[in-house]
Amino acid sequence: MSIAIHKHCRIKGGFAIFMAAAVIFPLLASAQQALDPLVQSLTPRQKIGQLQQMNGEAKSVAEIPEAIKSAIREGRVGSFLNVLNPDVVNEMQRIAMTESEAKIPLLFARDVIHGYRTIMPTPLGQAATWNPELVEKGARVAAIEASSMGIRWTFAPMIDISRDSRWGRITESFGEDPHLTSVLTTASVRGYQGDSLANPTSIAATAKHFLGYGAAEGGRDYNVTYIPEPLLHNIYLPPFKAAVDARVASVMTAFNDLNGVPASGNVYIMDKLLRGELGFGGVIVSDWDSVLELIPHGFAEDKKQAALLAAKAGLDMEMVSTTFQENLASLLDSGRVSEAELDAKVSRILDLKRKLGLFEQPYSKGDPIKAILTPEHKSVSEQAALESLVLLKNEKSVLPIAKGASIALIGPLAHAAHDQLGSWVLDAQKQDSVTVLDAFQQVLPNEKLFYAQALYSSRSRDNQDFAQAVEQAKKADVIVYVGGEEAVLSGEAHSRADTRLPGAQEQLIRELKKIGKPLVVVILAGRPLALNDVFDQMDALVMAWHPGTMGGPAIVRLLTGAAEPVGRLPVTWPKITGQIPIYYNHPSSGRPANASNFTQMDEFPLEAFQHSTGHKNHYIDIGFEPQFPFGYGLSYSSVKYSGLKLNKTTIAAGETIQVSAKIQNAGKRPVTETVQLYIRDPVASSVRPVRELKDFQRVVLKPGQTHTVEFRLDKEDLAFFNQRLEWVLEPGKFEVWIAPNAVEGLQGEFSVR
Ligand code: NOJ
Repeated sequence: MSIAIHKHCRIKGGFAIFMAAAVIFPLLASAQQALDPLVQSLTPRQKIGQLQQMNGEAKSVAEIPEAIKSAIREGRVGSFLNVLNPDVVNEMQRIAMTESEAKIPLLFARDVIHGYRTIMPTPLGQAATWNPELVEKGARVAAIEASSMGIRWTFAPMIDISRDSRWGRITESFGEDPHLTSVLTTASVRGYQGDSLANPTSIAATAKHFLGYGAAEGGRDYNVTYIPEPLLHNIYLPPFKAAVDARVASVMTAFNDLNGVPASGNVYIMDKLLRGELGFGGVIVSDWDSVLELIPHGFAEDKKQAALLAAKAGLDMEMVSTTFQENLASLLDSGRVSEAELDAKVSRILDLKRKLGLFEQPYSKGDPIKAILTPEHKSVSEQAALESLVLLKNEKSVLPIAKGASIALIGPLAHAAHDQLGSWVLDAQKQDSVTVLDAFQQVLPNEKLFYAQALYSSRSRDNQDFAQAVEQAKKADVIVYVGGEEAVLSGEAHSRADTRLPGAQEQLIRELKKIGKPLVVVILAGRPLALNDVFDQMDALVMAWHPGTMGGPAIVRLLTGAAEPVGRLPVTWPKITGQIPIYYNHPSSGRPANASNFTQMDEFPLEAFQHSTGHKNHYIDIGFEPQFPFGYGLSYSSVKYSGLKLNKTTIAAGETIQVSAKIQNAGKRPVTETVQLYIRDPVASSVRPVRELKDFQRVVLKPGQTHTVEFRLDKEDLAFFNQRLEWVLEPGKFEVWIAPNAVEGLQGEFSVR
C-alpha cells in the first residue's frame, strides 16, 4: 500500500500534481493567465514583434546596423541578446521608446553564467562549495556588474542534472544531485534577481535547459535524450521546481529531443510539466535557433510548421531564428494559432518588462566603472574559488606545504590567466586574473620559487621542455604541478570521449615523480578527469575546477595552509572514462557488487569458468567503485562521526523524525565539515536509489571541538514519484546515514507506518 499525496500539495520535494501523466490536457495551462492591459492595444504585428529576440552585437552606436534600427522602429523585436555596450543599449532603447509606435521598452540579455567581468569558479566549482550563501553572493556580483552595462536578463543558472563528465557542459551545471542542485538553484536565482526585479541592479534569471539536456546520450552535446517519466520527475525536474518556487523569471527550452520530441516543440514538457505541474507563469524562451532546429531534427517540415509547433507547445520568445516573425501572422489568419494564444505570450513578456521597471526606466543608468571588478567583488570571487577547492588526496600530509619550503611550480596551467576563467566568460578579460604563479610570487622570495611551464598548452604533446622543468623541480623541496584542461576543452559543444589529462601531461607527471620529491597535483578542469593511470604518482591532489579571476590566490592560500580545504565533490569522480555514466544515486541492481564479491580480471585463474569469477554488477577490469564518491573531500584536520541517534523508531506518514550525530574535530587544525544526510527506501514499488541526499549542513569546528548536528526528515523527503507518476510515501523500512560522503557514514534505520 502507498500513501498518495494529492492535488496541489506544495511540498519541499514534490509537485502540484493535477493528474497522472498519461492524461490528455485539452485546455493549455499556458492560456490561463490574466493579460497585461497593453496587449489589447497592440496590432498583431506588434505582438509578434515582442516574441522575437535578436542578436545585436554592435560595439558602438555608430555601428548599429540600419536593419536593426528599422526592426526596432517597426516593432519587429522585443529583446536583444549580446549588446555589448550601455551606449548602444540606450540608443536602441531610445529608438524603441521614441520612434516606434508601441513604445515598448526592449529587454537586453546576455549569458552571464559565472560572473560578468569578475569571474567566479564555473558553476560546477561553485557547487563544490556546497555553500548556497556564496553561490547567491556570486550571482549578485554578476547581476550588479551586468546591470551596470544595461543587461537585465541572464541565461543562467543552468540546472541540468549531469551524470556524464564527457558532456562539456557539465562545467556549467551544479552536478549530478537533484537536492544539491535545487538548493543552489534557489540561491542563484535569488542572487541574480535580488529582493525585487525592479531594483536596477537585479537581472532576470533563466532556468535552463528545459528539459533533460544533461542526459545527452554518450555525453555528446545536443544528442538525443531518453528519460523515463519517473526518472524525469524524481531526478531532472526538481531543480526546475526549485527555480519556479524561487520565482525565476524565465525558462529556456533545450536543444535536445526528449523521448522523441524536441524540447522547443514539446507541448508535454512546456505546457503540462512546466506550466501545469510546476505552475510556471513566466517567459519561456527558446535556445538559439532551437525552433528552427525542429527542421533538422526531423520534427517539422519547414519554418511554418516549426513556428506552429513551438507556438502551440507554449514557447513565448524565439531566440535568433525568425520562424515566429515570418509565420505567425499567417498562422493567426488561418486560425491555427489563436489570438488568445498570442496574447498570452505577449502578456508574459510585457509582464517581465514591467517587473524589471523598464516601462518607468528603460535606460541604463549604471556606472560600470564603479560597479565592475570592485575589491568587494574580487573578494567574493576569491572566497568562492577557495571554498570550491576539493582536497582529494594528501598522502603523509604533504599539504599544507611546510613553512619555509621551496617550491617548484610546474605545468601548463600554473600561469594561464585566460584558462583559469573557464567556459562561458564572454565579458571577462584575462589581465584581471591572478594566476597561481602570480600568487606564489607574492608570498615566496625568488630564491624559493622555481617555475617551468613545461608544456605549451594542456593539449601539447611536445615534451622538449621536460628536461628543463625537471631541472627546476630538482631545486625545490616540493613540486606543485598545475595542469588539467584549458577552458576551451569543456563547455558547449566541447564534449570529450576520453576524459584523461590531455596532451603529454601524464608523461610529465611521471617524469616529475621520478625526482623523488613530494608531488602535489592541482587540476584545473571543467570536469572530473580520469586520473587512474597516474593517480599513484601523486602525493596530493587538489581539484580546482576553473576557479575564476582570483583562482591563483585561493589555490596558494590552500596549498600553504593559510586557508583550510572545505570543498566537496558535487559529482562522482570516475577512475576511467569507460565507467561513465557513474553516479551515486543509482538504483540497486539485483546483483550489487562489493569488495567481497569482486575479482579483478588479472586474478582470474587460467581457463576459469565464467560463473566462477563473481557475477555481480561490476567491470572486471576497473571494478565498481569510482575514484572518489559524490560528496567526498578531505580537510587538513581529521573529523570523527559518532553517536547516531533517531528520536523515534517508527513514524506515521505525516510525522517528522529527527536524526542526529556528533561531529568531532579530532585533528589539530580548524575544519569546515559538510555533514550530509542520505536516505534509502530499501523496498518499494519502484527500485529506489541506493542512497539519496536529502540535506546537508556545514559545521565549523575548532580543533578538539564537538558539535551535534541534527536533521529532520518528513514525508516530503521520503516520498517519490512511482510508476504511475503519483507522489507517494510507501510505508516500511527506511535507512538513513549521517555521512561525510555518499559511501561512508553512520547508518540507522526507522519505519514509516
Ligand atoms: C546556446 C546555449 O545552449 C544557451 O545556454 C545560451 O544561453 C544561448 N546559446 C545564448 O547564448
